[in-house]
Amino acid sequence: MAKQVTAIYPGSFDPLTNGHVDIIERGQQIFDRVIVAVLVNVEKDPLFSSEERMQLLGEVTGKWDNVEVDAFNGLLVNYALSKGAEVILRGIRAVTDYEYEFQMALMNRRLKPSIETVFLVPAEAYSYLSSSLVKEVFSLGGSVTGLVPAVVEDFMKRKTASNQRED
Ligand code: PNS
Repeated sequence: MAKQVTAIYPGSFDPLTNGHVDIIERGQQIFDRVIVAVLVNVEKDPLFSSEERMQLLGEVTGKWDNVEVDAFNGLLVNYALSKGAEVILRGIRAVTDYEYEFQMALMNRRLKPSIETVFLVPAEAYSYLSSSLVKEVFSLGGSVTGLVPAVVEDFMKRKTASNQRED
């Protein structure tokens, strides 16, 4: 039987952007199975809870049979091993990402040499896009249409509206 390769695509996804979706789409074309793994408790004050992030990821990636959504905490390499994954998938946008990604890839290799980090480059249109910029633009009243999936934008708007009602 041909070898099946599982890749973990880890991240905070707070919120999920179209850049992330682009990487997931490219990854699921290359690997037999892609597990999108949401890091739990990454920020003290996240926009979305990990459950909400998983729910949105599930809605957006539901069209791909070989993509699963999960949550993890602790060391990424331990989580990858527990899932039988041999690859950590990361998107790399510009040179500025390189240093951080390079450090993580080498640290993960030191921790678990059998796991390989694979970098994919998103479409040019998303090369400037980040979750933190999306949060900032949205919080200041700017449009995030086209930067995040429509379900994410709707959710952001509904969440803001319900927060305002509570104030
Ligand atoms: O999307 P992000 O926030 O840049 O993702 C960062 C992430 C989740 C990949 C990274 O913080 C991580 O792997 N955290 C888990 C803890 C861990 O294994 N740290 C050592 C990695 S060098």
